[in-house]
Amino acid sequence: MNLTEEAAAVGYIARSTPKGAELITEILRLKKEKNAVILAHYYVDGEIQELADYVGDSLGLSQAAENTEADLIVFCGVHFMGETAKILNPSKKVVVPDFNAGCSLADSVPVEEFAALKAAHPEAIVVSYINCSAEIKAMTDIICTSSNAVQIVESIPADREIIFAPDANLGRYVAHKTGRELILWEGACMVHIDISLEKLAVLKSEYPEALLIAHPECKEMILKEADYVGSTTALLKFVETSPSSTFIVATEAGILHKMKHAVPHKHLIPAPSNEQNTCACSECPYMKMNTLEKLYNALYYELPEIHLEESIRIPAYKALKAMLKISV
Ligand code: 13P
Ligand code: SF4
Repeated sequence: MNLTEEAAAVGYIARSTPKGAELITEILRLKKEKNAVILAHYYVDGEIQELADYVGDSLGLSQAAENTEADLIVFCGVHFMGETAKILNPSKKVVVPDFNAGCSLADSVPVEEFAALKAAHPEAIVVSYINCSAEIKAMTDIICTSSNAVQIVESIPADREIIFAPDANLGRYVAHKTGRELILWEGACMVHIDISLEKLAVLKSEYPEALLIAHPECKEMILKEADYVGSTTALLKFVETSPSSTFIVATEAGILHKMKHAVPHKHLIPAPSNEQNTCACSECPYMKMNTLEKLYNALYYELPEIHLEESIRIPAYKALKAMLKISV
């Protein structure tokens, strides 16, 4: 039985969920009853972040998933994040609110083409950004996230060739910071590369005092303009500690939820995308597939569940552990 059939068999698709305040009460009740933990990335909607036990960036979420003592992990993020939790903590049941919440970076690397790149560079150390599938992780020597990519590349002996996949913008940023030559996979985050340089220039002229802070998945042109570059957690810390009071935030708009909590007196302006969207900001359509109703269903049915073959999980685990040892 495939996942859709399994879910339909237990009424997962047809069942109506509680509404409003009752929905939140039920989520909290089920979480307690099932000894579940809700992990959420900063990019999911604020109402989900409010219910989560832990909200963080990819590195923090991996560490939280590895260390949890809960029986059930409900991962509100995207598919590769749920897989990462399962790789690190295989005795736990890991479910995600929407199995179709993918990632343009993870989707950019077919296994056969990656194998061909590796075969062309048999001596290279393979560094993969955590935004990739479990299969690609299994073909990797060491994983990195946006918060430790520079550190991970610096940990590799200077005479070794390095393949860096799949985010070429992060790769170019790391190459610039470390002075290392990297063999890049030309993948990109559809959200960060769509941030409009033209609209940013208009914003900067309207708010000349604003600092531009950017995630390293942004295009090189934006990173060159930025006053500060960092992972989502690093951007959050930066607005907390910087003496400045106005920031243009060049990453997915979900991070503004925690930023507004942390610095309610500061002016936070989301970076606009090329899209003519109503929020005048940058939103990841995959992260936004997480809803309270789907979170409730995931808790109630313990579906959809992440399953991984041990032949994939074990080498992927080694690559993740190699990173976590460096990023304690
Ligand atoms: P971090 O969580 O490492 O900041 O990366 C952002 C991202 O795009 C996650 O998909
Ligand atoms: Fe993937 Fe970009 Fe969405 Fe993150 S924001 S999940 S990198 S598509």
